[in-house]
Amino acid sequence: MGYRDFVLKGDIAYSIAKDALCTSENSFLVCSDGKSAGVFSQVPAQYRQLPLIDYTGKLIIPGLIDLHLHAPQFSFRALGMDLELLDWLKVRAFPEEAKYQDTAYALRAYTALVEDLKKGPNTRCCIFATVHVPATLLLMDLLEASGLVSLVGKVNMDRNSPDGLRETDAAASIGATREWLDRYAEKKDKKNTNCGPILTPRFIPSCTDDLMRGLSKLQKQYRLPLQSHLSENQREIAWVRELCPESSCYGDAYTRFDLFGAEVPTIMAHCVWTEGEEMELLRRRGVYVAHCPQSNSNLASGMAPIRRYLDAGIAVGLGSDIAGGAHTSIFRTMTEAIQISKLRRFTGACDETPLTMEEVFYLGTLGGGSFFGQVGSFAAGYEFDALVMDDTSFAPPFALTLGDRLERAMYLSDDRHIIAKYVRGGVIQ
Ligand code: GUN
Ligand code: FE
Repeated sequence: MGYRDFVLKGDIAYSIAKDALCTSENSFLVCSDGKSAGVFSQVPAQYRQLPLIDYTGKLIIPGLIDLHLHAPQFSFRALGMDLELLDWLKVRAFPEEAKYQDTAYALRAYTALVEDLKKGPNTRCCIFATVHVPATLLLMDLLEASGLVSLVGKVNMDRNSPDGLRETDAAASIGATREWLDRYAEKKDKKNTNCGPILTPRFIPSCTDDLMRGLSKLQKQYRLPLQSHLSENQREIAWVRELCPESSCYGDAYTRFDLFGAEVPTIMAHCVWTEGEEMELLRRRGVYVAHCPQSNSNLASGMAPIRRYLDAGIAVGLGSDIAGGAHTSIFRTMTEAIQISKLRRFTGACDETPLTMEEVFYLGTLGGGSFFGQVGSFAAGYEFDALVMDDTSFAPPFALTLGDRLERAMYLSDDRHIIAKYVRGGVIQ
């Protein structure tokens, strides 16, 4: 019996399908060797000797998954929110990211981010760092020590970016990426690896063809997953069309280098304007969409057709897109996903039914969690990532179902309502 073997008692809710919750009041959730052994109305005989932590009356749900955020942008979140994407990148994002050349600055900024993430409801994240190798390794050290699970990418960008942030050429960018991967491999604690690398070409406008070819080779050598941006904003898409006249769509500009799903586990952030061939590429190649509704509103990008993606069987999770989004909590992203799905009808998409509470909860847990393996559920065998929430301060004077309580927690809770947080059965403190 180890420290990752115990039983939690409380009111338990988790997704069992895209549109279905499993709810069990006053029940027992067993953690065995860092994995869920299931939810029970009585503790099964073989687990009766395990420590029981009594959270009677509290809500117990899987940890939330943020499939897309930019670590260096946490520092300036909630600034420049009246700008559009490309202007915001130029005025706010790029000048701030250039500062991460200075590791002392990076240490201060990244420490604040990791402290925020530890206190919030997210248990796993896919993160863009910057082009800088030392600062990216430092972020990975901080995340490793936090107990949260993450994938972090040293960003690649060798064109259309300001001096001080643009890598000299493709060879320099690939060389730095190799150095980052090799230094990460040297320091990796093989027993308990919370933080791993993910290849991160920023987006097509900031990566030359030579760089994309080099990344494709690296991907095959190191067998790494990949994250990037796709079809976020109309000005950006028009720019990609100019830069890649030979590509039939934005997604094809990645596919040509074999950096778009299939053998490469891939997350594409946004996909606001994806349709037709690009949607078919997402589906066929198993690419994950990171839906970032708050960012898409803040940066005037648009409203992603998530209902269509779900109907087509495309994999979807949620992203805060710090600092396109100003808030790290994926609870907030869930509510915004519902709001945007309802506003879509005013674009003429009257045939799309809005997303439901059950669906957005799925997207923020199991939907995104599946990118990490068996994550985002309490079904037996899933990794034990759990939040215990005290929702009594907003309990109404009438009885609520567990589903109703979950919906209210999405809209009304903040970090103060999280009374315990577990990742892989370990406590986050
Ligand atoms: N596209 C390229 N870089 C970025 C970024 O930092 N944020 C967002 N939202 N979109 C991008
Ligand atoms: Fe982004």
